[in-house]
Amino acid sequence: MNGPNSVSLTRFLIEEQRAKGKIGADLRLLIEVVARACKTISIAVGKGALGGVLGEAGTGNVQGEAQKKLDVLSNDILLEANEWGGHLAGLASEEMDHPHAIPHHFPKGGYLLVFDPLDGSSNIDVNVSIGTIFSVLRCPEGMTGTEDEAFQQPGTTQVAAGYCVYGPSTTLVLTLGDGTHAFTLDREVGSFLLTGRNLQIPPDTKEFAINMSNTRFWEAPVKRYIDELVAGKDGPRGKDFNMRWVGSMVADVHRIVTRGGVFMYPLDSKTAAQGGRLRLLYEANPMAFIVEQAGGAATTGRQRIVEVKPSKLHQRVPVILGSRNEVERVTGYHGEG
Ligand code: AHG
Ligand code: MN
Ligand code: MN
Repeated sequence: MNGPNSVSLTRFLIEEQRAKGKIGADLRLLIEVVARACKTISIAVGKGALGGVLGEAGTGNVQGEAQKKLDVLSNDILLEANEWGGHLAGLASEEMDHPHAIPHHFPKGGYLLVFDPLDGSSNIDVNVSIGTIFSVLRCPEGMTGTEDEAFQQPGTTQVAAGYCVYGPSTTLVLTLGDGTHAFTLDREVGSFLLTGRNLQIPPDTKEFAINMSNTRFWEAPVKRYIDELVAGKDGPRGKDFNMRWVGSMVADVHRIVTRGGVFMYPLDSKTAAQGGRLRLLYEANPMAFIVEQAGGAATTGRQRIVEVKPSKLHQRVPVILGSRNEVERVTGYHGEG
């Protein structure tokens, strides 16, 4: 893989800039800086118990969740890496109540970066894949990038999105709005190499991902859909389905981007008051952008995720994404009432 013809992330970005004029130097720097921060997080994650990074931080975030040491460390790594480059107007994350301002002694740029620094916190201490999710927006005219409102843009305005999964290998999956591409970290060299150009999610699948312990809280359309999958060959679908649930969105979505499937964290009566379980700006929107760019679909059950107009920085939404025909089917069931 790593040879004279291998394409590094740097080369990929430069070629996007040169050939297609798709991205400017600022956006290129931004992606490179995020990728570098992900490498640092990957190293910390890889040390596990030897690095003293496991366990609770002893603090809570704005969502009332207990923070793990790695949640806080990853957030700090991403902040530090992105402050000085002059490409950003502001940063927001799952782990901060409000956006983080660029310190005065650094220049400011036109982009906003919003991220889930460490996704799958419940899997950190048990050595199961976890990841980082990010989304890039433009700072709206007349705003400084420190207001919550600056970030409250529908997902259709994203200029780039990506995730990095820290699994047996470290893989960065990226879209700049021109397909979805995968890069694997060459640990010896320390650079991300292109290992999948224009990923395509198959429209049909036999695999689904949902937390089945929530069955009794689901709405009727989701119950019906999952019942039909579980009924397999003997039911209306006439074929057997298999289930996978890692519990880290980043790992579950990566499986789907790699070989298809449908991922659901639908609306349920447990999370209805908050609007859902997953967060719109730094979980649902970037994943929806990546999945759509790979030929898949992403809805709340009622509308395209990227068309939801956010009213809060930490807004939550129901998420159904992956293989197009399955997402359309379950979304159709919602329409039937
Ligand atoms: P985070 O660790 O960033 O808070 O996100 C965890 C999310 C997501 O990764 C996963 O799909 C979901 O929580 C799992 O939730 P359940 O434990 O309710 O299944
Ligand atoms: Mn998360
Ligand atoms: Mn997180």
